[in-house]
Amino acid sequence: MAEPKENNKKYVTLVDHQSGKSIDLPVLSGSIGPDVIDIRKLYAETGYFTYDPGFTSTGSCQSEITYIDGDAGILTHRGYSIEDLTEHCTYMEVAYLLLNGELPNQAEKDDFERTITYHTMVHEQLLNFYRGFRRDAHPMAILVGVVGALSSFYHDSTDINDPTQRMIASHRLIAKLPTIAAMAYKYSVGQPFIYPRNDLTYAEDFLHMTFSVPAEDYQISPTVARAMDRIFILHADHEQNASTSTVRLAGSSGANPFACIASGISSLWGPAHGGANEAVLNMLAEIGHKKNIPEFLEKAKDKNDPFRLMGFGHRVYKNHDPRAKVLKKSADDVLNELGVSDPLLDLARELEQIALKDDYFVERKLFPNVDFYSGVILKAIGFPTSMFTVLFALARTTGWIAQWNEMITDPTQKIGRPRQLFTGHGERAFVPIDKR
Ligand code: ACO
Repeated sequence: MAEPKENNKKYVTLVDHQSGKSIDLPVLSGSIGPDVIDIRKLYAETGYFTYDPGFTSTGSCQSEITYIDGDAGILTHRGYSIEDLTEHCTYMEVAYLLLNGELPNQAEKDDFERTITYHTMVHEQLLNFYRGFRRDAHPMAILVGVVGALSSFYHDSTDINDPTQRMIASHRLIAKLPTIAAMAYKYSVGQPFIYPRNDLTYAEDFLHMTFSVPAEDYQISPTVARAMDRIFILHADHEQNASTSTVRLAGSSGANPFACIASGISSLWGPAHGGANEAVLNMLAEIGHKKNIPEFLEKAKDKNDPFRLMGFGHRVYKNHDPRAKVLKKSADDVLNELGVSDPLLDLARELEQIALKDDYFVERKLFPNVDFYSGVILKAIGFPTSMFTVLFALARTTGWIAQWNEMITDPTQKIGRPRQLFTGHGERAFVPIDKR
């Protein structure tokens, strides 16, 4: 990756009306998307910082991986639309694309799948690690702990300056996350761990490790396996969101990739981010019945009430979330195939219809996001709600590790160090304890 190019013709002039001084700030252009104002010299030349809580107007890096146009509802990975990728590719092909920049040919695909399959087992000693957790631990808590612990098991791939070690760590993370996630589930329900099987696809293997028991193999439905694979593709990467930015920030200090991905998992856990799909199902349970929908819609609109309609709205998409459109179709396929009849799923469909016609949601462009439908599908497949965010983390690991690799090879990369607008006390005289 090269230094971003200055757009020679464009500058933005910042005028300080108090001092009368002005500074021309260069404008940088990407291949598509809004231009950015390069403020790297702002502090040195003016003494000012910028103030942007939540980074809503700040580009933190240059990237070639994922592009989102939130107003148009567009999501592309390396130039390919999410609709094409979910229609024509497997998650393994998308993982290869995110990591390597191009879709694999058949030989490259076979080789990549072999490599990932080869790394799916975890160190046997890791099994003991699990036994240290409480049985009722949230699987996300287990995931954060075990992924963080990987650096102690695979120390031979933690030298971030060695491209071969970086790639081995990337493959290990993509390969082992399904095994680790399934083990977190098995531990929480008190069942024995199920080893991976090399004859299954990535999605099939995950379903097998989660739902098989030693006494009986789980019968994998092709529709369910395809829906699972699609969920993985749809969650694989999403540009510089909170968890990805967390991975980059952690990695900017030179931390090893296993530690960085553990930090991404922690960030994803929050209900405003990856925890939303779990929150959707909890919310549906709280609403309880179709007759209660109007009351909860009023709560969601009431600014004095912290309740928000989970699974609606998005920081970037102010239009339909393109991932939600694909998943809505998958949800219908899975529910029909499994013949699932569940009052909560009926409630979800009703809520979606009512909210989409409600002026409050229409005016604010609050559409169902990817989490609204993924929760519905995952429940139908049989995952407990506590596993929803775990599945999101599993799929997003590919995006995180691709972004982490990109950051390491970016010549403009520096340790991340945001500044602040300090509003606390100035220096004051120390008061001894007997005088406070
Ligand atoms: N329910 C009710 N009102 C909402 C909701 C919601 N889910 N989302 C946004 N609003 C309202 C806000 O109160 C605000 O109203 P106002 O203009 O009258 O003040 C307006 O819509 C704009 O919302 P913002 O808060 O500015 O939107 P922001 O971009 O900051 O938030 C977020 C995005 C956090 C996703 C928000 O929509 C939300 O909390 N949604 C529910 C949680 C959720 O589903 N998260 C998953 C996100 S997708 C993902 O992580 C994969």
